[in-house]
Amino acid sequence: MELREAIGRRRSIRFLDPGRQVEVEKVQRMLEAARLASHWGNVQSLRAVVVMKETAPREVIDALQAPVAGYQIKLAPVVIVWYLDTSAVDEQSDRLRELVDCGALGYGDDKRAALEETLIPMFNSILDSLKSPGLGEVDCGQGIAHATLVAYEQGLGTCCLGTPYTDQIRQNLGMPEHCRVLCLQTVGYPAEDPEAGGQRPRRPFEEIFHLNGYGNGFPRSQAVVDELAADGMLTAPAPLPGREDELKTLQERLGLKGHGLF
Ligand SMILES: Cc1cc2nc3c(=O)[nH]c(=O)nc-3n(C[C@H](O)[C@H](O)[C@H](O)COP(=O)(O)O)c2cc1C
Repeated sequence: MELREAIGRRRSIRFLDPGRQVEVEKVQRMLEAARLASHWGNVQSLRAVVVMKETAPREVIDALQAPVAGYQIKLAPVVIVWYLDTSAVDEQSDRLRELVDCGALGYGDDKRAALEETLIPMFNSILDSLKSPGLGEVDCGQGIAHATLVAYEQGLGTCCLGTPYTDQIRQNLGMPEHCRVLCLQTVGYPAEDPEAGGQRPRRPFEEIFHLNGYGNGFPRSQAVVDELAADGMLTAPAPLPGREDELKTLQERLGLKGHGLF
């Protein structure tokens, strides 16, 4: 599958088939993709606990909770608990050395000396602030995005869920305090049409991207828009005809109660 089409046709899939197990190899491919994402200083703070309902103990499954459309956790055969391990930042010097030694960072005969005498002390002086929420979350988001696209490429549906119960989940899964739970990602085979009612709304392009300064909308070429539509990256906007009927059918078929918002 082409990358553009995967970006365009992937949706957050909230209705997963609870009876269809996910092959462990497919989950591994998602994790392999996450591991390859870029990270400041190559620190690689993104980590995950994969909860496979088929084999996980009851108390581990019960520990997973999210308040918005939380029914998704009940439906999903797999939930990935993505977290950031702040202790990875403590090994930052070694990660920088690896980058220099493999030829990715720096040039010239004195690059190793400059690293030891200047760059590493510079990072060491701000190590604690680098553990605070911020840049690390950006890196982790990149890894989760890689995994999400590889899930889609393999015919899986996923949805990231934010949760205020991060500390509780961390403790219930036995993670140390230096780990920060980021989000839960449900994984399974879609019970809904993979189009999931069409491409979800996005803010206007010119409103969110600027050229050479704030407030100056980045020009959007119609020719590029047409090209991306032809490639399957820009697709028909939601809701597609029949979506409300599909939602009603899904609610009945999956035995879901209420309005599905929480
Ligand atoms: C970090 C993150 C947290 C999210 N949290 C929730 C959530 O708690 N509940 C939910 O139903 N969807 C959640 N979503 C899904 C978004 O609402 C989704 O991106 C939005 O519906 C746009 O749809 P799309 O992903 O299909 O393009 C989350 C997405 C991300 C990336």
